[in-house]
Amino acid sequence: QTEISRVRNLERVQMGTWEIEPWYFSPYPAEFTDSDIVYICETCLSYHGTPTQFRRHRSKCTLLHPPGNEIYRDDTISFFEIDGRRQRTWCRNLCLLSKLFLDHKTLYYDVDPFLFYCMTIRSARGHHLVGYFSKEKESAESYNVACILTLPQHQRKGYGKLLIQFSYELSKIEGKLGSPEKPLSDLGLLGYRAYWAENIVDLLLEREAEGTPIVSVEDIGQSLAMTTNDVLHTLQNLNLLRYSQKNHVIVLTEAVVEQREQQKAKLAATGKVARRIEGEKLVGWRPPV
Ligand code: COA
Ligand code: NA
Repeated sequence: QTEISRVRNLERVQMGTWEIEPWYFSPYPAEFTDSDIVYICETCLSYHGTPTQFRRHRSKCTLLHPPGNEIYRDDTISFFEIDGRRQRTWCRNLCLLSKLFLDHKTLYYDVDPFLFYCMTIRSARGHHLVGYFSKEKESAESYNVACILTLPQHQRKGYGKLLIQFSYELSKIEGKLGSPEKPLSDLGLLGYRAYWAENIVDLLLEREAEGTPIVSVEDIGQSLAMTTNDVLHTLQNLNLLRYSQKNHVIVLTEAVVEQREQQKAKLAATGKVARRIEGEKLVGWRPPV
């Protein structure tokens, strides 16, 4: 664990067909600070200071996807599960890369206690890393996410929500209630709040339509693998909680239903579909021991 509170040190990084401007400091070796562009290998995440060095590397690099088991695949995306202890170099490279977009003061060089869940999109050229979350193999606070990142070139396209959903699908299989490690960054908080609100409102609507309305905060938590605390805060933010004889009563308001419908209509109008992780495609997954 190293204390880091320094200014942004890399001007630009190139990754695949994207050129990205880093947001924060990341402890890449000092000599890379002098490079105009740092070239990052899209598959092994190694870094190179000149085009020549990078070309030489690419002609030798044989990695075609993140170095772990592909535990999920649908029409467009895949998830790979990577053990920090077995793939130390790759995971350290991932942490270095993600530190460029994370404002944390500390960076964990010790990747051994973590699993990394990496999401890729597939093209004719192969797998492209979109984002990931890390998860402690054993979390005393039962956090289901340590760190979460969508690479900037892929942000605001709904991938963050997919990453978050995936983390909860794993918690469902583990039979646990999960919550991300605190404190969350501003963007992290926005992403989680949006995820929690959408999923809770959709569940309430679904159960109402089925004629088996939700009655308790715990019921929501169990259905979505969310902690009671996260459910309560979300319901409070949405102003859906009433109190009756000292008990919580959940009241789905017109305003919230309307807002959710508008959100869906807006998405449909842009031709986008709300992508979902298909939980049933994960049935073969078991928590690694
Ligand atoms: N401004 C306002 N709201 C934002 C936002 C932004 N820049 N970015 C995300 N949101 C909110 C929106 O409500 C959005 O839903 P909408 O697009 O339907 O309105 C919701 O978050 C999810 O957006 P999504 O596209 O699924 O997320 P993403 O792929 O951009 O990823 C993060 C979200 C948090 C993973 C991403 O911003 C990130 O990697 N940030 C840097 C690393 C970080 O801070 N990680 C968390 C701390 S460990
Ligand atoms: Na949670």
